[in-house]
Amino acid sequence: MMLPQLLALSLALAPNLVSAAIFPDNSLVKMIDAKGFKNAMKQNETSVVAFVAPWCGHCQAMAPEYSKAALGLYPLVPLYAVDCDAAKNKKLCADQGVKGFPTVKMFPRGKQLPPKDFEGPDRTASAFFYFAQRNIPHWSKKIHQFEDIEGNVNAEKIINRPRALLMNKSNKMPLLWMVLDNKYHDQISFFNHRDKKGRSSVKLGFEPGEDGQGKILIYPPGEKKPVMYKGILKHDSLSKFFDSILDGTADLSVANEEAATEEFIPDPEVLEIERQQEAEMLALAHGGFSDMIDFEAALKDTAAKNFHAQNGYPGMMGAAPNVDQKYLKKPAGEGQGESSSSSKSKKIRMPMTGDGGEIVMDVTSTVKGAKNQPQTPVPGAEQTEAAAAEEAPSPEPPVEAEAEPVPDHKKDEL
Ligand SMILES: *[C@@H]1O[C@H](CO)[C@@H](O)[C@H](O)[C@H]1NC(C)=O
Ligand SMILES: *[C@@H]1O[C@H](CO)[C@@H](O)[C@H](O)[C@H]1NC(C)=O
Repeated sequence: MMLPQLLALSLALAPNLVSAAIFPDNSLVKMIDAKGFKNAMKQNETSVVAFVAPWCGHCQAMAPEYSKAALGLYPLVPLYAVDCDAAKNKKLCADQGVKGFPTVKMFPRGKQLPPKDFEGPDRTASAFFYFAQRNIPHWSKKIHQFEDIEGNVNAEKIINRPRALLMNKSNKMPLLWMVLDNKYHDQISFFNHRDKKGRSSVKLGFEPGEDGQGKILIYPPGEKKPVMYKGILKHDSLSKFFDSILDGTADLSVANEEAATEEFIPDPEVLEIERQQEAEMLALAHGGFSDMIDFEAALKDTAAKNFHAQNGYPGMMGAAPNVDQKYLKKPAGEGQGESSSSSKSKKIRMPMTGDGGEIVMDVTSTVKGAKNQPQTPVPGAEQTEAAAAEEAPSPEPPVEAEAEPVPDHKKDEL
């Protein structure tokens, strides 16, 4: 049997053991190396990358918050982490200008747009969440009047590319629409129009639709008449559909009929993630977390137990596809993961009907006064004045203050 002190000592001497634990096993944060980073940058999508070192206490303190943000943003914005201590990643971290740990950066559209540094106010789940969500580039053009649809969507200079028009009764643009717009920006023109009473739909020859139900109209290249997308309003299904339009070989109406027949077979892992997303939101509604992704604004005017029925999951728009009850019996991974989220979630059933939507909310209420963002300098790196200032004592003592001087063997590694 090992004495606790001995155990602590052996852990301190073996920083790599600690590394495995920086993000919990069930975290949606994906550890990537330089090669994975390169691949991630090839995607035309918004992603967030945390540059960390396993022995850094500020990184460990950040990890649960960063993981919660990853959960809230799933599957629309991936959150990654790079271990800058690993020899194979040192060049990447240096190239990214990492001077202290953790350093968090957002890449708005792979390598196509310059990254943005995360600057606080503090390293909380909601701060990370809004940092990513607010910076998703999107170009979708809002068309206010029905009369203007034709002229905009069928404008000569874009008529030969596919165009996508979101018609919705609500004024808000779902997060999923922004994400798709960002992803397909170079190939598809995006528009959105508020069809408050369904009149525009009728004028275009479609059903007015039920309250809160949106429509996605697709204008095939060269054509002035749209077809209505009939598939599932989820990220994967929509991406698949857009890809099939773009690949040029698929006949759009055939692709659309195929999309219409896609059966919704929930992936148990995704169901579990959605269940946890819901648990997070409910826990927040009941004051369960001190700082959770800020769903408060939505929860204020919606019955908590009906939250998803009205607001859906971040990864989808419109009505949730019906799920066969057999998929909902016993959620996988019960009792694992973070204490409060899983213990609360046991009581929660997942409503899967009704219209879905976005979780984008006004953030003003959550921005607290700027706090220090303590970092641990990269060993051996020259300390700039700014970095030294950041090291200034914070209101709470930095987590690794006593426990974690930079190990000597680390000092000459960089
Ligand atoms: C990203 O966008 C470019 C056009 O800007 C396109 O050529 C490329 O195929 C896209 N990459 C992916 C992975 O979709
Ligand atoms: C329509 O807007 C509502 C409210 O923002 C949203 O919940 C819903 O997902 C939207 N529907 C579509 C198809 O965009």
